[in-house]
Amino acid sequence: MAISTTPPSTADPAAADPPSYTPRGERFLSLFTLPPHPQSRPLYPSDAPAPPPPYITVCAPMVRYSKLAFRHVVRHFGVDVAYTPMILADVFKNSPFARDTEFTTAPNDTPVVLQLAASNAEDFAAAAVMAAPYVDAVDLNCGCPQKWAFKERIGSYLMEHPEKVADMVAMARRRVPELVIAVKIRVHDDAATRTVEMARRLENMGAGVLAVHGRTRHQKSTEAVNVDAIRLVKENVRVPVIANGNVFTRADADALALATRADGIMAARGLLANPALFAGYDSTPIAAAKAYFDYAVKCGTHAYVIHHHLMYCLEAHLSVWQRKRFNVCTSVAAMADYFRSWDAWNDEECNGLAH
Ligand SMILES: Cc1cc2nc3c(=O)[nH]c(=O)nc-3n(C[C@H](O)[C@H](O)[C@H](O)COP(=O)(O)O)c2cc1C
Repeated sequence: MAISTTPPSTADPAAADPPSYTPRGERFLSLFTLPPHPQSRPLYPSDAPAPPPPYITVCAPMVRYSKLAFRHVVRHFGVDVAYTPMILADVFKNSPFARDTEFTTAPNDTPVVLQLAASNAEDFAAAAVMAAPYVDAVDLNCGCPQKWAFKERIGSYLMEHPEKVADMVAMARRRVPELVIAVKIRVHDDAATRTVEMARRLENMGAGVLAVHGRTRHQKSTEAVNVDAIRLVKENVRVPVIANGNVFTRADADALALATRADGIMAARGLLANPALFAGYDSTPIAAAKAYFDYAVKCGTHAYVIHHHLMYCLEAHLSVWQRKRFNVCTSVAAMADYFRSWDAWNDEECNGLAH
């Protein structure tokens, strides 16, 4: 779905909301406040190895990866909320081409959180206004640790400048009050003071959801997650908190929820390797990989991205020799040919997954 730069006209009676309409933002927040129940999870697989968890499950923002086709598939396998990859707010605001290529959505792509990277309140708020009719929330990235991002004063640079983040949240709230403004943060070395103070400040400025990656900006993704820091944030704010870091299995997700008391659990690398992890599968069901391939081709996803996804999520199923062969299948046609000759692929039905 291409995005328009103007919100839908309220003067058009055909576009008017029915009387029972609940704003998307309100519906989104109620996910976290009402205990999850089966009706709120119509896509949860009925034959999943594990029952739905008592927390909200979240697909993390991932540059290149958490795009529309992937979001569709993870939703079929137990994800409640999905974030888009990070998009630069100024580019989103200024370039119709970038909006059309970087942000695609669909009516059933909900709840969806558009993640933006911004260095100033004006860019962030303007992008939020444009995105509002198409998303359930907009998130500000305060976690990207890369050098280029730090130089551009975006991502984890903002962890050192909470006053700037507070301004961005406040301006976006003023400009588009019906939209939920989320913020994805990391933790500081002295989480008990600085991280908690920042989280409280953001809550006071109107942030509706906080996602906390339990590592500092200097830590590698192989290092341990500071679970206590996430729990401290949770204990000190009233808004929903999503805990993030090192979730590769359903057991990891359950343990992080228990240790942090967070309202939601977010996974990134774990979902790339196994899009069905929240539903309790030990490895990617072939049906999930097939559904991804189908959706991705239909969504016009670049073959390079499709290939990367399939390499990640099929790793546990392919022998070294099979991986070598698949590795060179870099076009959609070559991948389709490869799968035609793979029995495990052809034995698996994916008819239950709606298109
Ligand atoms: C391929 C990839 C792309 C990522 N892109 C983003 C991004 O666009 N925005 C963001 O806030 N974090 C991004 N991250 C960080 C993840 O959202 C997450 O915070 C981090 O990987 C820790 O979670 P995990 O231990 O479940 O992987 C990315 C991570 C990976 C592996």
